[in-house]
Amino acid sequence: MDKDLIIIGNWKMYKSSSEAVEFIKQLTPLVKDSKATIGLAVPFTAIESCSKAAKGTSIDIGAQNINDAREGAFTGEIAASMVKNAGATFVIVGHSERREYFNEDNTFIHAKVLRALSEGLKVILCIGETSEQREKNHEEILHTQLQEGLKEVPAEKVDQIMIAYEPVWAIGTGQSATPEIAQETHAFCRSLLTEIFSDKGNTVPILYGGSVKPENAKSLLEKPDINGALVGGASLEVKSFSAIIHSHKE
Ligand code: PGA
Repeated sequence: MDKDLIIIGNWKMYKSSSEAVEFIKQLTPLVKDSKATIGLAVPFTAIESCSKAAKGTSIDIGAQNINDAREGAFTGEIAASMVKNAGATFVIVGHSERREYFNEDNTFIHAKVLRALSEGLKVILCIGETSEQREKNHEEILHTQLQEGLKEVPAEKVDQIMIAYEPVWAIGTGQSATPEIAQETHAFCRSLLTEIFSDKGNTVPILYGGSVKPENAKSLLEKPDINGALVGGASLEVKSFSAIIHSHKE
């Protein structure tokens, strides 16, 4: 895999639609020469306006969640087809905040993965261990999350999949995994992906997430099995997000 990186911002529950559009207007000229694939996972309410604002730029717009059903009586939920229709090209599935605060398990996450794929969305499947699990059995946890999250993904849809390894202890804490720990874990995930998808597993991008900042991005992104970053807090400011996008070539 070449080292054209994938840098995705995860805005979580931040930014109104107008703030989001303003961000894109400011970011566009700063990243127009970048070779990185750039994405922003914005709140549902900003998908349509952001997709219009990002038209003709190199910035892809995505959602942070979907429901697994095609449609139905599920008050407050949003379908994959709806975010697609609003202009999203990808969706984050299985973020640790959804696993923890909304009790999403691997079975539900797997159903969302399949739904997103069948609607033609790319999927960023998030996996990661807590600090207790890091001490005890993190490899087993990651194995289960990948195996169960991807088990019925058909071979012809593998190129719509990305993985984000986000250790829970590194998310929003300011304390990222060291580049060595991240690399070692990515290499482990890579071996699991080839177990699941055979050779095709080598082509699935694995992003690192958890306190990625302009100061640590380069040392993480230069590791061979780190194909990009999923950035939370530092993606909320144009300056820090564009610094991360440009970090690998400086
Ligand atoms: P963080 O969040 O960069 O603020 O740690 C990452 C994420 O939750 O995807």
